This record gives sequence, C-alpha cells and structure tokens, in this order.
Amino acid sequence: MRFAIVKNAKELAERAFLEIKKVLDEKSDAVIGFATGSTPIPLYDKMADDHKRNGTSYKDVRAFNLDEYVGVDPGDKASFARFMQDRLFSRIDIDPANTDIPNGMAEDLSAECERYSAAVKEHPADIQILGIGANGHIAFNEPYTKPEEPTHIALLTARTRADNAAAFKDPSLVPQYALTMGIDEILTAKRILLLAMGENKAQAIYDMVMGRDDTSCPAAALRRHPDVTVVLDREAAGLLTFGEWERAAEEREARQAAERAEEELEANESDEAADGETAEAAADEASEADEDAAEEDVDADGAESEDGEDGEEADTSEADDDEAENGEDAADEEADEQDDDADASEEK
Ligand code: GLP
Repeated sequence: MRFAIVKNAKELAERAFLEIKKVLDEKSDAVIGFATGSTPIPLYDKMADDHKRNGTSYKDVRAFNLDEYVGVDPGDKASFARFMQDRLFSRIDIDPANTDIPNGMAEDLSAECERYSAAVKEHPADIQILGIGANGHIAFNEPYTKPEEPTHIALLTARTRADNAAAFKDPSLVPQYALTMGIDEILTAKRILLLAMGENKAQAIYDMVMGRDDTSCPAAALRRHPDVTVVLDREAAGLLTFGEWERAAEEREARQAAERAEEELEANESDEAADGETAEAAADEASEADEDAAEEDVDADGAESEDGEDGEEADTSEADDDEAENGEDAADEEADEQDDDADASEEK
C-alpha cells in the first residue's frame, strides 16, 4: 500500500489524476472502475477539465461502477447512474454504450447481480477508484460482508443511510437496499486507487491499514492487493503513525551516510599509503582500519536488528505493536496530530 498525503481537494484530484493518466497512457481502451460519493468529485472535475484542455480521450474506455441503490430510477438525481452522468460522463467523450452500472430497477435483482458479476469478470478493471465509508465500507460492502460474495443485494446500515442522506429530499427516502460489486470482485482490478478526505474517515483509514485482520472493516481486504495507492488529506490520515515511519527512515538514511563516509575515509587512507609510506606503516594503518570497520559493522548490524526489516510493512507492524503496548503514547501522538491539524487549518 502506497500513501500520498495531500493538503486539500485540489491536490487530491491532481495526485489521483496522475494514476488515471498513467493507465490511459499505457492503454487507451482501459477499463476504469468508478466510484460515487463526494470524495471523487474533484477528480472527475479534473478529468473533465483535462479532457477539454488537453484532449485526453475516453472514447475507447470501458467504465464500470461499483454500486447503485435499489428502487431509484437512473434518471433520478439521487441515483448513482445520474451522478456519473452529470459529474463525468457527459463532460468527456466516453461512449455511453461502454458504461455499465448495476440496475437497481431491475425486475429480477438476483439476475441483475449475476449479469453484472459476469460483466466485471469479463472486463477486469485496469484501475478501480474507491472511496471509503465512515464504517470502512467499500462500494456498499458493509462490515462483516463475506469477501467472496459476488455482486449482491446489500442491506445498508443506519449509519450509511444517514451519511448518504444529502442526495435525498428526506433521510427516510434513502433506500434500505443497494446492489454492490463484491469485495473479491473489487480486488480483481489490476490497480486500486482509494481516496479519502476528512476527520470522519480517520478511523476507517486506521482500521483499513492497522485494524483487525477480519471483515469488521471491509476496506482491510485491500491489504491483500499488491497495487493499492491511497490518497488522503491530513485529517483522514490523522490516526496513522506516519511520524514513526518517517523517523525510522531518517535513522536509516543517517546510518547509511555514516557508512558511506567511513568507506570514503578508508579509501583515502589506503590511497595515501600506496603513495609513499613504508609497506610496514601501510600495513599497520590497514589493520587499524579493519578494526574500525569491524566495530562499525557491529554497530550497524545492532542498529539494523533493533529496527527490524526495512520497508513500509515492517514499519507498519512495528507501529502497530507500539500502539498496542503503549496506549498513552498513541494518545499523545493523536493529540499532537490534532494540534498539527489545527495548525494546518489555521494556515488555510
Ligand atoms: C457511498 C458509496 C461508496 C463511497 C462512500 C463514501 O456509500 N457507495 O462507494 O465510497 O459513499 O462517500 P463520500 O465520498 O461521499 O464520503
């Protein structure tokens, strides 16, 4: 999982667009999985703007959407079909025949789920855009959904219905059911691009990265995918312990710089020896240098084994253990993060 932390929605859109552009540059007839919700709107604005200015074409692109409400007409402003139409498809040159979304008005909803599952299987996404629910849902896969369940009828939780109420005139009009692509189906995408903004997503993001390895946070399934880019603002990243990862990286760099300096010194010393000192003196110096080097190796090895393996995964689990063992530190850090966030919003 790669992370990019951005300052605002504009930066989020720019960073996310790079990922989409990379895919389109490689493959003009790419399959793109789209998401709805407020988070990807700046990205869709950016895509529409780039299409207008730079002519990036979507005419051969095939689009699949993650989900749709049951019982909401595709022409209704609250439907995800209409959202995609208004927010993106009508603003780029995509062929409407190449766009697909589950039909929540189908007479036989189970048959519609089967149709959609087969279509997704036939055209796996080159890149899947995802948002995340405040309870960690991806698409409409609510907590405790079995990952292997293909496109299905989902019963929405009260929280999800409340979070999605803005598109409806009355919160009681938010449907109870939706059709959603399944978790394992989402994971068939070659790349995944997850976007999240705001403090109300911080817990879901924490659970996705460091929470229990079960289905309580559906987004945690993304840990199984080899190519996930997560673009977050500081608020959504607020519970992650990036500070520890950064410190570990700095320590590593300092150690490597010291090792390089030592090597240069040794090389200079042996040059000098070759340049004129007696063979005996040179031998003495060389053996001193060897001793120094041996000491250095021990230090370096010792430091290595304390820090564990290099890389993000090792850092992640290390941070995880620290948090579990030391709740106070985690709380302090959270307070620091919140201070930082307050500073950041003051700056804005
Ligand atoms: C809905 C969609 C999800 C989306 C989520 C987050 O529940 N089904 O696909 O990720 O909303 O929406 P927002 O970006 O508005 O927070």
